[in-house]
Amino acid sequence: MIRTRLVGTGRCVPERVKTNDDIARRVDTSDEWIRTRTGIRKRHVLGEHETTSDMAVEAARQACASAGIAPADIECIVLATTTPDMPMPSCAIMTQHKLGIRGPAFDVGAACAGFTYGTTVVDGLIRGGLYRRVLFIGAEALSKFMDWDDRTTCILFGDGAGAVVAVADEQDVPASDPRARGILSSHLDGDGRFWADLNIPAGGTALPPSVETVTEGKHYLRMNGRVIFSQAVRNLSDACEQALRKVELSPDEVELVIPHQANLRIIDAVARRTRIPQDKFVVNLDEYGNTSAASIPIALDEAVRAGRVDEGTLLLHCGLGAGLTWGAVVVRW
Ligand code: UT7
Repeated sequence: MIRTRLVGTGRCVPERVKTNDDIARRVDTSDEWIRTRTGIRKRHVLGEHETTSDMAVEAARQACASAGIAPADIECIVLATTTPDMPMPSCAIMTQHKLGIRGPAFDVGAACAGFTYGTTVVDGLIRGGLYRRVLFIGAEALSKFMDWDDRTTCILFGDGAGAVVAVADEQDVPASDPRARGILSSHLDGDGRFWADLNIPAGGTALPPSVETVTEGKHYLRMNGRVIFSQAVRNLSDACEQALRKVELSPDEVELVIPHQANLRIIDAVARRTRIPQDKFVVNLDEYGNTSAASIPIALDEAVRAGRVDEGTLLLHCGLGAGLTWGAVVVRW
């Protein structure tokens, strides 16, 4: 049977940093409030002329280098984002162009669950036999859609990109066998009834850009934080349990969890509900804030480079975002 293995990782964040104190100079908040309610200390934000694909290209180059695969040997690019350089063409094709390569490239849009959804798409492409080497990137620049006068959202988000190289691997053992390596299972879900609780109202067909949409700030991200918070805790825990159950693995066997980095309190609550010890959760939101579809691959790359991931390590990653969309993926490295 063909299984999808992840063989290289990379990441890129912008040089420019906005600290909590920088934000507190503009809106009524404080470093203390932001740290205690979210765990975030700072975030990296793109400069005026930098784009999402600029970060994607750097993360992709690093992932290819660590996989020992030349970008030209990549057969397909999948890129998870809701903040492409422009409405069309896709951020994936812009990234492909900047990498100087050719071939199919497309975006997956599932907001902060983009990396989790996209991993499942990539796994399907590889296990279906369509491609053997796929470059998969999560890249996001929500700073460009922030209302920097809205203290309920502007404290949370940052920009960045993370990438993995996924390859086909022939294996003849079931997923529950410790010798099985790669993506072992995934569980995705969604509930569109919550679309109004986290969105960017204007800029699409419902509300095309106009002088009014800009004047009224409708091109900015809006969020009902409390609703998203409670949905995140419940649905992420449930997705982790379901993904593990599919391959008859128990939470005790998980060695590392790479959760979407939205709020430290959400991560702590998911640890409690899934009964996976907190020290197995990778946390880096203090440095980057919530980088949406990029948060999991950035944290994965950091964990790999820090030596927290070895051959055979059992990983779980999970994400939830606008939609709502959510899911979890089980991987043995
Ligand atoms: O990536 C997926 C999408 N995003 C998320 O997963 C985020 C989910 N939500 C959250 O992380 C949290 O809901 C927030 C961090 C956004 C807010 O934290 P909270 O503990 O849920 O605060 P709250 O919305 O219940 O607000 C509590 C109080 C309010 O004041 P009153 O009504 O009690 O007087 C807010 O006005 O805190 C106030 N507040 C702030 N105060 C200082 C809200 N934002 C701020 C702020 N600084 N930045």
